[in-house]
Amino acid sequence: MIKIGIIGVTGFAGLELLKILSLHKDVSLEYFASRSENGKRVGEIYPQLDTVLPNRIESINIERIKGLDAVFLSLPHTVSMEIAKDICDYVKIIDLSADFRLSNVDIYKLWYKKEHLSKALLDKAVYGLTELNRAKIKTASLIANPGCYATSVILPLAPLSDVIDENYIIADSKSGVSGAGRKAKEGLLFCEVNENFKSYSVAQHRHIPEIEETLSSIYEKDVKITFTPHLLPVQRGILSTVYANLKKSVSKNEALSIYRDFYKNDFFIRTKEEMPSLNNVRGTNFCDIGLEIDERNNRIVIVSVIDNMIKGASGQAVQNFNVMFGLKETEGLSPYPYYP
Ligand SMILES: NC(=O)c1ccc[n+]([C@@H]2O[C@H](COP(=O)([O-])OP(=O)(O)OC[C@H]3O[C@@H](n4cnc5c(N)ncnc54)[C@H](OP(=O)(O)O)[C@@H]3O)[C@@H](O)[C@H]2O)c1
Repeated sequence: MIKIGIIGVTGFAGLELLKILSLHKDVSLEYFASRSENGKRVGEIYPQLDTVLPNRIESINIERIKGLDAVFLSLPHTVSMEIAKDICDYVKIIDLSADFRLSNVDIYKLWYKKEHLSKALLDKAVYGLTELNRAKIKTASLIANPGCYATSVILPLAPLSDVIDENYIIADSKSGVSGAGRKAKEGLLFCEVNENFKSYSVAQHRHIPEIEETLSSIYEKDVKITFTPHLLPVQRGILSTVYANLKKSVSKNEALSIYRDFYKNDFFIRTKEEMPSLNNVRGTNFCDIGLEIDERNNRIVIVSVIDNMIKGASGQAVQNFNVMFGLKETEGLSPYPYYP
C-alpha cells in the first residue's frame, strides 16, 4: 500500500481528496492535517462523514510528512511552497495550489504579488494536466496540479493548433461557487450569489498566464487569450465557452474527428455531438467537449464542462498520483455523475 497524506483537509478540495482517497484500493491514508482544526474528528467539521471516517485531524508536522510516500498539498498559493521546500527530498508531492504552475519566477511575482521561494523547485515541477503531460508525470516527484478554469480552457484548445489563429482566442467561463473555496467571503453570501450572475477579474484572472504558457508550449508559438470568468449560482461545475478564428475551413465532423483522434487514449475526455452540460460531469473526473462551426464568421465555438473540484482539482490530482505510481489511471475515480 502507498502511504499518503493530505494537508489542508478542512478545505473543499481537501474534502474531495479525503473522499476519493479513502476508497482508493492501493492507498493507505496515513495522515491528514489542518492548521486550525487539528485535534478534531473529521465528523466535527463534516458531519456527513462522522461514522465513515472517525479519525482525528492532525496538526501540520513536517517530520510526519517525510515518512509518507506521497502528500497532497491542498493549501492556498504561497503556503504550499513554504511546506514543499522542506519535504521535497523525502516524499512525492501533488500540489493543488498555483505555486508551481508557472515556470517563470517573474511572471509568478507579477500575477501572485509575492516572490517565489524556489526557482529550483519550479524547474523540477511538472504541470499536471494528465492528458497532455502523462509521460513526464510518470517520473515526476512534484506535480503542479492545474487550475480549474485553466483545465476547462486548455483541454478544448489543445487539439486545435493547426486550425485556429492563436492571436484571437476568447474564453468565457462560468464557475460554481465552490471554486472559491470554503472560507467565508462577503461576495459568496447566499444573497450575493443566489439568483444572480456576474463576471469578475475580467482580463486579470490569475489563470490567464497558466493557460497562455501551456498553450504556447503545445502550439510552439506565442498564444494570447482573453479570458472572462463568471460566478454561476450553483455549488459545483465549470462551463467554458471558447471562441477562436479558423485559419482554414473545417466542418463540424472534421473538427470532431480532430478531438477524437487527439484524445483517443483518454478515458476522461469525451467529445460529444451535442453541447455538453454540467449535469453529465458533476461528481466525476470527466471533461465533456462539444462544438459548432460558425460558418458565417469563420469561427469555431467549443464548449467544455468539468466538475471544478474533481477534474478541476482533486480528481485530477488523484489521476496524476495514479500515473506517478504506475497504477490504473482511473483508480478511485467514480465515473458516475451526481444526477439528478
Ligand atoms: N475549490 C476548487 O474548485 C479548486 C479548484 C482547483 C484548485 N484549487 C486550489 O486548491 C487549493 C485548496 O482550495 P480549496 O478550495 O480547498 O480552499 P479552501 O476551501 O479555502 O481550503 C483551504 C485549506 O488551506 C488551509 N489553509 C489556509 N491558510 C493556511 C495557512 N496559512 N497555513 C496552513 N493551512 C492553511 C485551510 O485550513 P484551515 O481550516 O486550517 O484554515 C484549508 O484546509 C487552493 O490552492 C485552490 O486554489 C481549488
